[in-house]
Amino acid sequence: MVKKVIGLLGSPLPEGNTAQLLARALQGARDAGCAVELIPVTSLDFQGCQEKFFCQDHETCILDDDMQQIYPKFVDMDSLILATPVMTMGIPGTFKSFIDRFQVFFMAKYHRKQPLVSPKKKAGRNGLFICISGMDIPEVFVGVKLTVRAFFDIIDCQYRDELLINDMDRIKDIRTRPDLLDAAYKKGFAVGASLVASGQSPEKS
Ligand SMILES: Cc1cc2nc3c(=O)[nH]c(=O)nc-3n(C[C@H](O)[C@H](O)[C@H](O)COP(=O)(O)O)c2cc1C
Repeated sequence: MVKKVIGLLGSPLPEGNTAQLLARALQGARDAGCAVELIPVTSLDFQGCQEKFFCQDHETCILDDDMQQIYPKFVDMDSLILATPVMTMGIPGTFKSFIDRFQVFFMAKYHRKQPLVSPKKKAGRNGLFICISGMDIPEVFVGVKLTVRAFFDIIDCQYRDELLINDMDRIKDIRTRPDLLDAAYKKGFAVGASLVASGQSPEKS
């Protein structure tokens, strides 16, 4: 079975700097032998969590929106590459609302003790976190990292690796930094290669 890697884009710009880094990382995972799927979060039609607590007793959310097609993908995927810019020292609002909707996974795992992700799937499931910021200050990634670590834990992805790039206000165009695009490719390739090495077929989709 070909292993599946999801690329989650938190930036609203489909061809922005974050998107280009994610595209390179996904190309790496593809070249390693995985099937990849890009999900630009801001293209989805969904609401923020309404605290209906339907997921306390059910394996899905009561809100009937695009998240209904997202949940099975996150049960089924083998690894995740999450890429986002920093906004107001944290995760961009729309992306944060997307993450909040994974209370469905939280309730299954921690409340009912019946995780949606199987132990076999969980064992090899890795997360790569790519993040860029405009500023160059020491604490600029603190907020996003706390949220992403929590999200990875909720969806049973091990926080495997990260690529954190600050000072984008000065860099401006990531294409002027082929070293950073190459770093994204290599980290994406490593995610894919580890899946293939753990006994999966290297055939392409
Ligand atoms: C609404 C908004 C808020 C932002 N807040 C921050 C911030 O708090 N700290 C920071 O370092 N950069 C901040 N930035 C800068 C972005 O992180 C930076 O421009 C990034 O390169 C955008 O990536 P993208 O073009 O791929 O979306 C902000 C940008 C926007 C649009």
